[in-house]
This record gives sequence, C-alpha cells and structure tokens, in this order.
Amino acid sequence: MEKGSETEKWKFQGNKGLNSSAVSVRGVYNMLMDTINNNQNNKTVIPLCRVDPTDNPLFRTTSVAHQAVAEAVQSYNFNCYPPTVGLPAAKRAIAKYLSSDLPYQLSPEDIFLTVGGTQAIDIILPVLARPGANILLPRPGYPQYDSRAASCLLEVRYFDLLPQRRWEVDLDSIEALTDENTVAMVLINPSNPCGNVFTHQHLKKVAETAKKLGICIIADEVYAHVAFGSNPFVPIGVFSSIVPVITIGSLSKRWLVPGWRTGWIATCDPHKIFQITGIVKNIISYLEITADPLSFMQAAIPQILEKTKPEFHLKNMNIMKEAADIFYDVCKEIPCLTCPHKPEGAMSAMVEINFAHVKGIIDDVDFCDKLAKEESVILLPGVTVGLKNWLRISLAVDPSDLEEGLSRLKAFSLRHETR
Ligand SMILES: Cc1ncc(COP(=O)(O)O)c(C=O)c1O
Repeated sequence: MEKGSETEKWKFQGNKGLNSSAVSVRGVYNMLMDTINNNQNNKTVIPLCRVDPTDNPLFRTTSVAHQAVAEAVQSYNFNCYPPTVGLPAAKRAIAKYLSSDLPYQLSPEDIFLTVGGTQAIDIILPVLARPGANILLPRPGYPQYDSRAASCLLEVRYFDLLPQRRWEVDLDSIEALTDENTVAMVLINPSNPCGNVFTHQHLKKVAETAKKLGICIIADEVYAHVAFGSNPFVPIGVFSSIVPVITIGSLSKRWLVPGWRTGWIATCDPHKIFQITGIVKNIISYLEITADPLSFMQAAIPQILEKTKPEFHLKNMNIMKEAADIFYDVCKEIPCLTCPHKPEGAMSAMVEINFAHVKGIIDDVDFCDKLAKEESVILLPGVTVGLKNWLRISLAVDPSDLEEGLSRLKAFSLRHETR
C-alpha cells in the first residue's frame, strides 16, 4: 500500500463534533474572506465583522501598559511557571480594581487569572456542568458560550434580549425557561453584540429574578467601562448580596490589547455560596489542568490597573462615541436597515434587515455574501450571534474605514432596493 494514499487504513480521523466553524465569528470571517478572494472586484477589503480594537489605529494602549510588561520581562523574575490561581500581586490588584465599583471588598482569594475572557468562559461552563444541567444564554449573544456548552454537554436555553426595550432581558421568558436543572444565566454587559449598557434598575431586577429561581449569574464584563452613552456601566456584582455572581473580565477591550490574552474570573459572593457549593474548589481543580496566562503579563497587571490615567479611557470613549454617531446617522439613511437603539457601549451594533425594502436577497447570510462579493465589506450575519436576519457591525475600526464601509453598505442597499 502506498504511504499516505487514501487506500491506506488508519484507525483515527478528525472529530466531526469539533467542527464548530459554522457558529464561530472567525469561521464566518474566513468564509467571507474566501468569497472576496474568489470574486476580486479591486476594492479594498473593509472588515466590519470581528471586534478587535487594534483594527482602529487611533486605539493604542497606554504607555503605562507597555512599560509594565517590558519591566516585568526585563526583570528576569517572571520566567517561571505562575501559581495555579495566579500571581498574588495580580490577584490583589484585580480585587482592588473591581472593588472600587462594588459595595463590599473582594479579596484576592476571589480572583483567578485566565488566558483572556475566552479561557474564563472555557473554565466556568464545565465547572457548572453536571449530567442533565442546563444554562440560560442571551439571544443574541456571544457564540463562545454555545460552543463551550456543547463541548461539556451543558444544555443551552435562550432568553431574548428585547430590541424594542433597549435590549433589556425578557425576564418573563427567563422564568418560563428555568427548571430544577438550570444552574446559571449569562449576562453580557456592556453588550456584545447589541451595544447597549444595562441600567442599575434593570440589573437589580435580573439579580432578583435569578435569586428567585435559585441560579447564579455569569456576568461577562469583558467590555466593563466601555460605555459612552447615557447609562453608566454598573457591574452586576453590585447585587451579589442578592445573588452570587461570577464575573468574567479581561484587559482585551478596555486596554486595547486583545493579543495579550489576559483576563480573570472573580467570584462576587459575600455570602460564600460558591465556597459552600464547591464551585470555588472546582475552579481551582480546573486551573490545575489547564494553561496559565503568561507570568510576565500577570506581573504587569498591578501597574496597568493602578497607573493608567483616566484620560486614556476618556479619549477612547470619545472615539467610540464618534463611531457610534457616524454609524447611527448613516443607518437612518438606509431604508432596508433598522438599528433599534443607538449603540452606547461595547464596540458593535445590531441592525435588522427589512426585507420589504430589498429584493433578491434571501437572508442575513445571503446579504453578507453578496455584500462581500460586490463591495468587499464584511459584516457578521446575525445568525452567528443567534439572531437570524440581523447583522452585527463592528464599530472598532479606523473611522475612515467605517465611513467608507457604511457608504458602500448604503450603495449596496440602495442598489438592491425594492422599487
Ligand atoms: C462578550 C465577550 N466575552 C468574552 C470575550 C473573550 O474575551 P478575550 O478576548 O479577552 O478572550 C469576548 C471577545 O470578544 C467578548 O466579546
């Protein structure tokens, strides 16, 4: 038998269950890039699909962060494996940083260092999974939760975020979805993909609902403080005396360094319910068998959190606000697209396709495919984040790219308009 030929019999093959590209942002991005490469139309590619703040050249992290990392590397003190739960100084600094927004103090023992927000999700879902358990996810949401839940056999049930009510949680549906096997609900605030920031009042209602149902809250606050509208960012940990909260955080967005892969899990739980129920023990057990965030990144955290100047954050929020204004104004000029709510947080927005105003397009995927072919603009089909026939647009791009992308989107939409 010829080596490597198809006739050769091997006992192994790729796990088909792992083929999750149909639901991942990267999978869709790659697919649309292929579409553009196969249909060259000489237009520069404008990717408004993934949300990477470094796509905007105005977004550069603070020199404080660069210095902190450089010093940690140059010290030679952080070439070691880090402790399982994270470097004590980093844990102390994160506890202090998060506590400044809370009515009580977190302790360093409440903090666990992770490889970005992504690994925090990857850890917390299997920690909560048990045979027959289910978890409530927002729709639209962040697809990493769906993929991770599938891989740890955690059943997913979706509750709606209501566009006509500024993307608030449909609290009635939460009650209807919950049974004795429901363990947690996920809330992303500020919201990717919707671009809203939940009010203090609404978060309190969410906490009270979760308490009534006996489930904990996973608060995805990877976009914490990325809020540039009228609602200030409030961490739901503020209500952790009502319901225990597992907060997921990251340097990726607020410090504009998604490639540094540094995040955390914080258990906001003054009544120690996560200790009693064994969740904390399980998080530590999981950390013992998984990769750690880089030692020198952990070492840089205290300086990054403590020395970053407020002006750095303020400047970035002004840039995001301007992007949201540009986006919202152009959107109003496109009859087939409706943005129910001007973005005021995170770095993306959702728009609904109104099929009464377009012809020859069957759904959101078809819309994105034709837009990519004709205009080399890449948007994320809403189905990827759980909302068919909507589109997600990233606002974290070069302002001139955003304007050009929106102008091509408008031209495309008018060309396909029903007359
Ligand atoms: C809602 C949400 N959660 C988690 C993550 C993952 O965070 P990180 O990039 O720090 O891994 C992202 C990244 O885009 C996100 O949007």
